[in-house]
Amino acid sequence: MIVLKGISKTYASVAALRDVNLSIPDGSIYGIIGRSGAGKSTLLRIMSLLETPDSGEVYYDAERVDTLRGRELLERRRKMGMIFQNFNLLGSRNAAANIAYPLEIAGLHKKVIDQRVDELLELVDIKDKRRARLRELSGGQKQRVAIARALAATPQALFCDEATSSLDPQTTRSILSLIRDLQQRLKITVILITHQMEVIREICHDVAVLDEGTIVEQGTVASVFEAPQTQAARELIHA
Ligand SMILES: Nc1ncnc2c1ncn2[C@@H]1O[C@H](COP(=O)(O)OP(=O)(O)OP(=O)(O)O)[C@@H](O)[C@H]1O
Ligand SMILES: [Mg+2]
Repeated sequence: MIVLKGISKTYASVAALRDVNLSIPDGSIYGIIGRSGAGKSTLLRIMSLLETPDSGEVYYDAERVDTLRGRELLERRRKMGMIFQNFNLLGSRNAAANIAYPLEIAGLHKKVIDQRVDELLELVDIKDKRRARLRELSGGQKQRVAIARALAATPQALFCDEATSSLDPQTTRSILSLIRDLQQRLKITVILITHQMEVIREICHDVAVLDEGTIVEQGTVASVFEAPQTQAARELIHA
């Protein structure tokens, strides 16, 4: 369970998050929606410990994690995978070497890394692209490389920030079905930000609606989408 208690974050004069409380059960696929600037990416960065809140607390199960520093923080971050809209891959490295990167940083032996990279390529179904340069890969294949890299250190949570937003509808569906499949096989928790409502309908169990830094609505996708209670949610869902 990932628990946020009273999280606030302000940049200069912008209140990006205000008193956010959220609990994400293990093994769920949790969607976060909200208009541009609502604070979604900020929330994801705080949850994944890339950023510290001004106030509030972040817990992974019983452990408070927002106060971790140094080595403990690095080790905790290794237990989280992240994927983005623009993939964030290293252009100088081929597919396999991108996936190997976090394992190299973790200081594993080459033989162990090679074996793990093989498993990961198989897991995301691009075994034949092992040596491909990035420019030889489609968007969907690049996102598969990014997913494999995110999963390299067997994280307990996978954070997705607009991971399918630059993909066409068919490729989006194939990446979503991969994410759903991986969630079930690896028993990870997936936290997913998107402006694509069909993505939420397709794979999320629960959803939270952020508006101007505040969670204005949360619940099962069925309940929120069938009967949105706030103007902010209605605008997103019926847009
Ligand atoms: N590093 C930063 N420095 C200054 N302001 C920031 C920073 N990061 C975010 N903000 C501000 O905080 C608010 C929330 O930004 P955030 O990126 O979390 O929104 P978002 O919901 O992810 O939007 P989008 O859908 O456009 O990605 C915005 O007003 C943004 O300008
Ligand atoms: Mg964002």
